Amino acid sequence: MSARRGEQDPLRSEDGPGRHRPDVARLMRRLEREHAIRLEAENIGERVTAELYSSVQRLQQLQALHDEQGEAMLRLRDLDEAKDAFLSTVSHEFRTPLTSMMGYLELIADGDLETGSARMSSAVEVMTRNTQRLLHLVNDLLAFSSLQQGKRDDLGARVDMVDLVDEVHRTLAPVARRRGVTVTPSTLGEVPAIVGERDLIDRAVLNLLSNAIKFTPAGGHVRTRTWAERGAVLLEVTDTGIGIPAEEQDNLFTPFFRSSLSIAREIQGTGLGLALVRAAVDRHQGDVQLTSVEGEGTTVTVRLPV
Ligand SMILES: Nc1ncnc2c1ncn2[C@@H]1O[C@H](COP(=O)(O)OP(=O)(O)O)[C@@H](O)[C@H]1O
Ligand SMILES: [Mg+2]
Repeated sequence: MSARRGEQDPLRSEDGPGRHRPDVARLMRRLEREHAIRLEAENIGERVTAELYSSVQRLQQLQALHDEQGEAMLRLRDLDEAKDAFLSTVSHEFRTPLTSMMGYLELIADGDLETGSARMSSAVEVMTRNTQRLLHLVNDLLAFSSLQQGKRDDLGARVDMVDLVDEVHRTLAPVARRRGVTVTPSTLGEVPAIVGERDLIDRAVLNLLSNAIKFTPAGGHVRTRTWAERGAVLLEVTDTGIGIPAEEQDNLFTPFFRSSLSIAREIQGTGLGLALVRAAVDRHQGDVQLTSVEGEGTTVTVRLPV
């Protein structure tokens, strides 16, 4: 350390030998002072290092929190986008049949279709089909929304699967007849009741059987088999229909997914049915499996624990 201006440098005292002792004493005091300052400086240094370290840690924690928030925001945005896509698809599904019906109603209002004429009965047929389609869509959407809101009104009711499947068969028999598809239900042995939400299971089975009928050309066959196995009730729906291309089979249970075959052949539908089946089965801790060969047919098996 160099001597500051105005202070005397004790080592180069020009005051002669007589002044030597007090200089040493001053030098000692000065060294002690410097030592104390150095110690203090070291202390401060350690404290600053500690503070810096904990600041860095706090910063890292903040950064982690920030990252988590960012991820949560991204997830929310994805959900929001999925909801928007859902709304727009659903609106489109509503608009198509409604537009067609509006067209026919305008023709009738303008007196362009005579009562009892062939054109009138064809218009009525189209409007009936569209109304059924809308009703089916609304019922699927309602089932979905009850699932999402976690409503469990009927949970705990005893559901006789044989009865339920029979009822669905009766509902769809006229459709199958019109399409020239034979439908055969069968039950193997005793089938115990399961506990669950009847409306939901009903909707799932209706979707499975209507798919089988819808995707099977005239002359084809649809079979259902119901049986019990290891604490569960199983329902298998098999058809000899158009099948599903292997590379598309992974996507079938995604809402609104429809196979290229059903789009190419303009077979009506929304792609909500199988997603609903999966959700309903999940709700009952069951599972669903699908095997299909393009051009040969499809088998869907649902397992619901008793
Ligand atoms: N039994 C089946 N035979 C052939 N394809 C099927 C069958 N079941 C479902 N699919 C295919 O899976 C898609 C999704 O089924 P689903 O969700 O019920 O929709 P959709 O409203 O078209 O019936 C259908 O569009 C169709 O491509
Ligand atoms: Mg369907």
